[in-house]
Amino acid sequence: MARTADEIKGAVKEFYGERAVKASSCCGPEDVNDYKEKLYLLDDIKGMPETVASFGCGNPTAIAGLKTSETVLDLGSGAGLDCFLSAKAVGETGRVIGLDMTDEMLALANKNRDELGAKNVEFRKGEMESMPIDDGTVDVIISNCVINLSPDKDAVFRESHRVLKAGGRFHVSDVLLSRELTEAETNDLSLWAGCASGALLEDDYLARMKAAGFAEARIDSRSKIGSKPWFSATISAFKSADEGSCCGPTCCSLGS
Ligand SMILES: C[S@@+](CC[C@H](N)C(=O)[O-])C[C@H]1O[C@@H](n2cnc3c(N)ncnc32)[C@H](O)[C@@H]1O
Repeated sequence: MARTADEIKGAVKEFYGERAVKASSCCGPEDVNDYKEKLYLLDDIKGMPETVASFGCGNPTAIAGLKTSETVLDLGSGAGLDCFLSAKAVGETGRVIGLDMTDEMLALANKNRDELGAKNVEFRKGEMESMPIDDGTVDVIISNCVINLSPDKDAVFRESHRVLKAGGRFHVSDVLLSRELTEAETNDLSLWAGCASGALLEDDYLARMKAAGFAEARIDSRSKIGSKPWFSATISAFKSADEGSCCGPTCCSLGS
């Protein structure tokens, strides 16, 4: 029988809650599977505390083209690494919101923020399927190996489109499939938490983004993960610059 959304979210919270506790207290990078040194330029992560672990599969800030004063939203911000890199890029006049649903991860991220003194970063508790973020307030959405974990990607893409400003950008790393998974693979909760069972085929991913309202959606790069039938990719999408210039069909027809 297919897994329910509650079962999947429960397994994901438990898995990342445990990893957050490990990363904040007892272990070195190998013990928490911290991939930081493989994914980021050493210069960029120099000076970060070891507790700023990476559980990601890419480096979305490298493709996001962040500019001074922008507002950035990181979906599933984990220990906060991509938020801290974004905070440097947008500067003191910019703002970064890290959204995560797991209490232990939020505690770790807040501890890391205080240690780094990253005043323009805020970690907010919430789910990316129903974001606690106002409409049209975000310039750039980033995310690192998180959207695959959602049992309702259509809601994630709809919410992403809603919170972006007109002309806003979406630049994420995520896991995609190179073939359909078997039923057993799809129902394996540890494979869900490990970022594989919930992954989509690339055409399906892009079609869902377009259905959510994005004007353009594309795969920027693909990296194999050994001989697995899934791979890590960077994906970009754009909200049309014309959206939001009108308040709805009535006012448009009145020409305002
Ligand atoms: C694979 S880790 C990636 C963390 C971080 N992006 C990084 O690169 O290190 C996934 C993170 O997403 C969070 N997460 C998973 N599903 C979520 C959801 N539906 N809404 C909000 N956060 C979620 C988890 O709590 C966890 O911190």
